[in-house]
Amino acid sequence: MSFKHDVVIVGAGLAGLRAALELAGSLNVAVISKVYPTRSHSGAAQGGIAAALGNEEPDSWEWHMYDTVKGGDYLTDQDVAEVLARDAPRAVFELEHMGVPFNRTPEGKIAQRAFGGHTREFGKAAVKRACYAADRSGRVMMDTLYFEAVRRGIKIFPEFQMLDIVMADGQVAGLVVYELATGEIHLFHSRMVLLATGGFGKIYKTTSNAFASTGDGVSAACRLGIPLEDMEFVQFHPTGIYGLGVLISEAARGEGGVLRNSNGERFMERYAPAIKDLAPRDMVSRAIATEIREGRGIGGRDYVHLDLTHLGEKKLAERLSDISSFVRIYLGIDPVRELIPIQPTCHYMMGGIPVSVEGRVLWPSGESVPGLYAAGECSCLSLHGANRLGCNSLLDLVVFGRIAGRRMAADLEDLSWVDPPRDAEHRARERIERLMEGAGSEKTAHVRSAMQETMTALCSVFRTEQTLARAAVKIRELKDRYSRVRIDNRGSRFNMELLDALELEGLLDLAEAVVVSASGRKESRGAHFREDYPERDDENCLKHTLVHTAGEVLELSYKPVTITRFEPKPRTY
Ligand code: FUM
Repeated sequence: MSFKHDVVIVGAGLAGLRAALELAGSLNVAVISKVYPTRSHSGAAQGGIAAALGNEEPDSWEWHMYDTVKGGDYLTDQDVAEVLARDAPRAVFELEHMGVPFNRTPEGKIAQRAFGGHTREFGKAAVKRACYAADRSGRVMMDTLYFEAVRRGIKIFPEFQMLDIVMADGQVAGLVVYELATGEIHLFHSRMVLLATGGFGKIYKTTSNAFASTGDGVSAACRLGIPLEDMEFVQFHPTGIYGLGVLISEAARGEGGVLRNSNGERFMERYAPAIKDLAPRDMVSRAIATEIREGRGIGGRDYVHLDLTHLGEKKLAERLSDISSFVRIYLGIDPVRELIPIQPTCHYMMGGIPVSVEGRVLWPSGESVPGLYAAGECSCLSLHGANRLGCNSLLDLVVFGRIAGRRMAADLEDLSWVDPPRDAEHRARERIERLMEGAGSEKTAHVRSAMQETMTALCSVFRTEQTLARAAVKIRELKDRYSRVRIDNRGSRFNMELLDALELEGLLDLAEAVVVSASGRKESRGAHFREDYPERDDENCLKHTLVHTAGEVLELSYKPVTITRFEPKPRTY
């Protein structure tokens, strides 16, 4: 079947829906989503959304901008951080007016709490900047925007998986899409496409990401020849439930929780004497990994404890109820009385599809790809630099989702319809046929586990030239094995085995892009820590990485960082 829409948005998370709200009404907009929309991963965000409202303590957008830049280890493009920090209060009030049920102060203002790396007076002390709805902030925002989208009659196609972006005459002509319920391949003919497909944490074994976080938009852009930006910067959230990776919100530490090693020591005092457990995530995750390496993991094992026992039952029930029940359900532990075993978990990708501040996808020349836009975690605005601050992600989605939607509405007039090539669906059909009928006997699950083990062992919180070289060889071998994957399920309705196999092709490309980008960056900055180059090197490495396919190999190039207000300084907390 084929569909025709002015604009197709891929992904019904917060970035996609917020953009859709700008476009609905006058234009024929469709949103396709690989999952039922309210299951989009934005709904898993727990702790809050940052905005310098100053409701609980004095605050200013300039301090927020500074924290974002410093948190990003000065790789953040400062013009973008300024847009974010200035627009944050408006974005939060807009959500409030749409109906997001934020927690309240006793006077009825939006309540705020502390979060990692958010400070006042340019780093003096932690500040309460995260606006929250208990520990289900993303969930309530997701539900609110979804209801708003439905109310405005936006056409949503649930369980439709994008396979390829279709180009014609150098311009977007639409998408090739796989319908999970029927197994049909559809052509969506459109003038514009917005990619809002989220991250790709599933390249790692331990991750807070949903099963659907397989980076389909990022890998599709890569297949078009668009270079990916800053892929080496992978965020490990310090507090994943041990062995599972399920997120225990940083809000737990924002509300006063502390990390302890096997000696019961509050070890963050040694690593970040000023803000301790509320240091940025890259520093806390490295501190945990160091404690474990030096034998101070609990019982000599690879985890430490999160201690919430002093917060009291009432606070846990009122502000951290979801994570309390996760701990009870998954670990059989009562956080009111017992310590929680945690370990860093892959949480967020700072890198992705390079975009302008208005969401236009960019070629390395700086020219945009006509008709192609991206927003949210799949995009790289160079906003989060080398390490994103907590609560800047939900903010990024609604601020830059809106800006991208506005840009698209304005750009549409200049874009005429182009016909998709006759064989637009050819590659997709061939891929599926090979997976179903090919001669190989490899299993998707085996190749995927091997990729996740490899990335976790060799390209994680700590990296070296040797570990990265081994990872590169291993991923190449896995790509070769992937070419022999054959699935057993021949069915056409909800063939999840086929979907897993299709996703894996892109995941392997993205894993390789992370490894190659990490090998190229011979310094340590933010979430990218090279044990063989332990210092930040502004003289040679203050630049964004671009990785692109050149035939069979990946090549690297670089582009400058935009610095407007804050000159890079040593990063201490
Ligand atoms: O810890 C958290 O609640 C996560 C927030 C975020 O990633 O922004």
